[in-house]
Amino acid sequence: MSRLLYAFALFSTASAAWAEDTYLPKTYTPHTLELPEHVPKPDLPTDNVLTKERIELGGRLFFDSLLSEDNRMACAACHSPVDGFSDPRQFSEGINGHIGKRQSMSVLNLAWKDSFFWDGRAKTLREQVLHPIKDPTEMSLPIRRAVARLNRYGNYKTDFEKAYGPGNVTEKKLALALENYLLSLKSTDSKYDDSVEGKVSLTEQEKLGQKLFHTPYDPKSQTRGASCYECHSGPLFTDHAFRNNGLNATDDLGRYVVTLKSDDKGKFVTPSLRNIELTAPYMHDGRFSTLEDVLDHYSSPFSQKHQTLDPALQPHASTGILLSNEEKAAIIAFLKTLTDPEHK
Ligand code: HEC
Ligand code: HEC
Repeated sequence: MSRLLYAFALFSTASAAWAEDTYLPKTYTPHTLELPEHVPKPDLPTDNVLTKERIELGGRLFFDSLLSEDNRMACAACHSPVDGFSDPRQFSEGINGHIGKRQSMSVLNLAWKDSFFWDGRAKTLREQVLHPIKDPTEMSLPIRRAVARLNRYGNYKTDFEKAYGPGNVTEKKLALALENYLLSLKSTDSKYDDSVEGKVSLTEQEKLGQKLFHTPYDPKSQTRGASCYECHSGPLFTDHAFRNNGLNATDDLGRYVVTLKSDDKGKFVTPSLRNIELTAPYMHDGRFSTLEDVLDHYSSPFSQKHQTLDPALQPHASTGILLSNEEKAAIIAFLKTLTDPEHK
């Protein structure tokens, strides 16, 4: 329980000083995020109030290839709804066949994050969403040209006026519309959530997995545990911290590239495990294709590359978190209860 309280405290301190919403039109339809009681309310920006008109516009933009240079690639090409808004390919392919270096991330439950990308290099969503549009290896369209297209085609100007008041489409309004849509995407309605609310009970195997997940690994103790909760904690199954989870790292230095602190070498953001069944392959470089591979990783010796292995794993570096096949299967069964059927 104390872990859970800690996670709540962390969420409530993450507030940003957002200004007033100067683009709110005279009439609009407010949108409220419906959340179960055990999920804390996110700190939403007050200068980009969630409205139905904005979410619809942002959703239209997310699925529109007009935002790419060759008119052939939408955001959804690498964040596909049927794959938990992520990409089943190890590395996504941008326009002109350019292959990226990192695995695409799910864009669900971003309302609780305060930095974006595997290395956290974007501080706000409105800043983040412009990167893939202009990135020459992704959609490769200068923002100036994206804005010109939106002012000209597809009746976007009218939709922008309904969402952000009178005037031309601008870079800022484009970023705000995508941010509004992304903030509305959530996954908090899984079998796990129903079990917390007492609507269903988990199977014996799922319960065993849940217990292992939330119990510390201590080979000397009689109690079996897998320590997953140490990092994938709280109702979103992450505390969003940057860590080295002992992967035999490639040359991607992760968080270090942003902070230039040697302590951050080989650290990546701890991902949420919600919908994890749908978002294979796994890790920042998509090196594991199945959850079985992931459990085998945690159950093997951890790499000490960069000397930044997380303190939670450090005592077990030479062995890994030793789990039986039955225990691995139980943890996987529990992870599958985190799938939201709405996104399946
Ligand atoms: C060519 C594939 C591709 C396209 C197109 C693409 N993305 Fe991504 N997206 C990625 C990859 C890969 C990452 C992780 C990159 C990294 O960490 O360096 C990512 C990360 C993100 C994240 C960070 C999520 C988090 O949890 O931090 C967001 C938000 C996002 N993309 C939104 C968008 C939006 C909005 C668009 C369209 C404007 C878009 N993406 C288009 C591949 C793509
Ligand atoms: C020390 C912190 C820590 C512990 C303990 C930990 N993880 Fe992780 N986990 C991470 C980090 C950090 C990543 C991302 C690493 C990367 O991509 O470089 C990750 C990635 C994952 C992923 C891939 C997610 C994705 O979207 O690609 C899964 C699945 C996962 N962990 C499951 C587990 C399970 C199950 C356990 C318990 C056996 C566990 N983790 C224990 C920190 C941890």
